[in-house]
Amino acid sequence: MTIPKKNQLVGLDIGSHSIKLVEIDHSKRGPILKSFGVVGLPPGAIVEGSIKEIEVVASAIKNLYKNLKVKNRKIATSISGYSVIVKKIDLPAKEGGDLEATIQEKAEQYIPFDINDVNLDYDLLTSEPESEDSSGGSSRPTEVMLVAAKKDMVEEYVGLLQLAGLSPMVLDVDAFALQNAFEMSSPEQKGCYALVNIGAEELGINAVKDGISMFTRDSSYGGAQITDAIMKELKVSYEEAEKIKLGGTKVEKEKPILEEIFTSVVSSWAQEIKRALDFLATTYPDETIQRVFLSGGSSRIPGFHKYLEMETGIPVEMLNPFSNLIINEKKFDTKYLSYMAPQAAVAVGLALRSIGDK
Ligand SMILES: Nc1ncnc2c1ncn2[C@@H]1O[C@H](COP(=O)(O)OP(=O)(O)OP(=O)(O)O)[C@@H](O)[C@H]1O
Ligand SMILES: [Mg+2]
Repeated sequence: MTIPKKNQLVGLDIGSHSIKLVEIDHSKRGPILKSFGVVGLPPGAIVEGSIKEIEVVASAIKNLYKNLKVKNRKIATSISGYSVIVKKIDLPAKEGGDLEATIQEKAEQYIPFDINDVNLDYDLLTSEPESEDSSGGSSRPTEVMLVAAKKDMVEEYVGLLQLAGLSPMVLDVDAFALQNAFEMSSPEQKGCYALVNIGAEELGINAVKDGISMFTRDSSYGGAQITDAIMKELKVSYEEAEKIKLGGTKVEKEKPILEEIFTSVVSSWAQEIKRALDFLATTYPDETIQRVFLSGGSSRIPGFHKYLEMETGIPVEMLNPFSNLIINEKKFDTKYLSYMAPQAAVAVGLALRSIGDK
């Protein structure tokens, strides 16, 4: 798939811990990684997806753009968390009728906010009924993926990006950007699998079957739980706590406290993932999740991968969103890229979008 240059977008994943930027050139040879960079945010600038310090975040984005010398100001970004509802619904197959109106009407049932406060979008997962089978009628329901985002949240992001001098052309959802990145990096993957993204404040799960999302869930878990606990228990600043967490500082005598923090937080993540897998098993008794693919900065915690495998009994792999991109080794430090890979997944998925995509 080549995308004309004028339709290419820069992928910007605005997380609560850090902002990730990916630019991809869609050449005839295939997708080429053109720019990649990350900038950290101070704690409290974004809290559970809500922008608290717009100036701080906008200037972080501007710096990232400047340092990477990125020219294209048209971007794709994504939102996630409790302000976004993603829900798969079945619409009974009816003759004719206004699909849009039916969806709007149905949506009210599923969205826990006032319908006037959300931007509603949808995607048809199955084409409108055609009579493939002998019944000749339209007995098959149409599957629709509903996405509702709170308007104030959307406005917050648009305002931020405008302040940073950028034009948001595509507003995606983390779960779908992740799926997009995964499909590009592992096109041979068929069947059922779960994509899990563990960031700083959010743990996102997207269960996919043959390229179609069956279920998504975001919950308030993530690496910040560990950082916060270290700050509290060892009475250190946020910066120090982050360093200790990444193993940058020696703290021999605090080792047992650290181990306890890691174990209790990480096991709460595994439990949350297991709850989602159990829910899937009950809702789709005929399907089996064959593999879990991990991404997000917190998925790097040493041993988590194996621990999750043990807890769920399902093979766990790391998602490498760079694996099918053409990479100029003179321009990029490949060691750095492979270290950053899990954290870059959402941004890569976004950079694969183009103008005209939803
Ligand atoms: N090697 C590592 N070991 C443990 N934690 C790590 C490591 N590297 C990064 N992290 C943690 O990963 C988190 C950042 O990951 P990521 O960039 O995916 O989050 P985010 O997108 O900014 O946050 P969110 O989407 O949850 O708002 C931080 O909590 C950071 O401390
Ligand atoms: Mg994130």
